Amino acid sequence: MAGITVVGMGPGSEDYVTGAAQKAVGKAGVLVGGRRHLEMYHHLPVEKIPITVDLEPLLDTIRNRVAAGEHVVVLASGDPGFYGILSTLRRRLPDLEPEVIPGVSSIQLACARLGITWEDACLISCHGRSCAELAEAVLNRPKVITLTDPRHNPPELARILLQAGIGHRLVFVACNLSYPEETLVATTLRQLAAGESCPSSNCVMVIINEE
Ligand SMILES: C[S@@+](CC[C@H](N)C(=O)[O-])C[C@H]1O[C@@H](n2cnc3c(N)ncnc32)[C@H](O)[C@@H]1O
Repeated sequence: MAGITVVGMGPGSEDYVTGAAQKAVGKAGVLVGGRRHLEMYHHLPVEKIPITVDLEPLLDTIRNRVAAGEHVVVLASGDPGFYGILSTLRRRLPDLEPEVIPGVSSIQLACARLGITWEDACLISCHGRSCAELAEAVLNRPKVITLTDPRHNPPELARILLQAGIGHRLVFVACNLSYPEETLVATTLRQLAAGESCPSSNCVMVIINEE
């Protein structure tokens, strides 16, 4: 079967990889993913291509392999449709019409760990992009959940919010969700901003206005 399937791998642990995801991986002719995801399938005798920072050669390879009649499976963290590789694939390879297998998003698992809903949250990402919309969202919405990255890490985002004049917010920082080293910290913007660093660069931040 030629084509492309984008598979959501959940937040990290195999416990959150769905049966549908496992089945889709089993049908791969070529497996594309981050090194951590590819290692999960080291036992599968299938060609594996790592995702690197420079996506151009990878996009060419995917296009050529599908055109040659191969079935390419791309492994995406969390859910592919939430700030993942799916948007790049749809934009850059619009003719391929991928099949998408959903996964558990880091945002979902963060909310589950906290026992809170996400239907009422403003979901944004400061991962690898400007976080210009963060302050306005936090000012106007009672619950904001954002992805972070090593530069836009939780203490840095707290400092940005304090500089924007936002003071009293309850903050939860959930890092390395589903891994043995998972941490979940309840704090305030001021406490967080005073901290030098975060335990990890793989974190979700939940910001709640209790007023
Ligand atoms: C490129 S985005 C991908 C988001 C993914 N599509 C999802 O649905 O979770 C990567 C960001 O997701 C968050 N993330 C992914 N896995 C995580 C985990 N296990 N624990 C905490 N945050 C995680 C972090 O903010 C990380 O920088």
